[in-house]
Amino acid sequence: MSSLELFETTEPERRQRLGPAAMVLRGFALPYVSDLILAIDGIVALSPFRHMVTPGGFAMSVALTNCGALGWTTDRRGYRYTSVDPDTGMPWPAMPATFSRLANEAAAAADFERFEPDACLVNQYAPGSRLSLHQDKNERDYRAPIVSVSLGVRATFLFGGPARTDPTIKVPLHHGDVVVWGGADRLRYHGVMPLKDEPHALLGSRRINLTFRKAG
Ligand code: SIN
Ligand code: FE2
Repeated sequence: MSSLELFETTEPERRQRLGPAAMVLRGFALPYVSDLILAIDGIVALSPFRHMVTPGGFAMSVALTNCGALGWTTDRRGYRYTSVDPDTGMPWPAMPATFSRLANEAAAAADFERFEPDACLVNQYAPGSRLSLHQDKNERDYRAPIVSVSLGVRATFLFGGPARTDPTIKVPLHHGDVVVWGGADRLRYHGVMPLKDEPHALLGSRRINLTFRKAG
């Protein structure tokens, strides 16, 4: 038996490598799901989902909010992290302990030890919502990875290269999957194709994505 076959039989698609420092952890968040959904409801009660406007003047099709010390925002003036929710004038809701633990354990499973996120974007996709190719580059320190958790409706994630025009691979992301990318892969372009209307048992026609960063 070749070592590849051995790997496949012992770890059936649990860790799918996307690059030297990027991988999908299939189903990694499943044990956390009920806690995550309760915690998301608590966050949204304080800082509701909203459709932010890009510097170019377009409303994003994805609705978003944040938790943690810093939250990512966009408006006509540009992209940035703030400690206050511009819609409520209050600090972003605190990061729930279950969020930090999941992010830390997923990062470690992808070989990034001691990840301590200070920002979590909560993205909500409805049928048709999409996210065009972009780099995550508003963070101060690129040494920390990005940890991205998928819940609800399945989506097609696009993972490209360091230039916008590089070819992309299509990665199906299901409820409970986690993608981690950092190191040499930290600035790869990525996006999400328009969401299909294939209702999910727990979340209905929605997809929720949690993206953890070390922003400050
Ligand atoms: C993001 O790039 O911020 C979100 C990615 C996703 O929704 O899977
Ligand atoms: Fe991103």
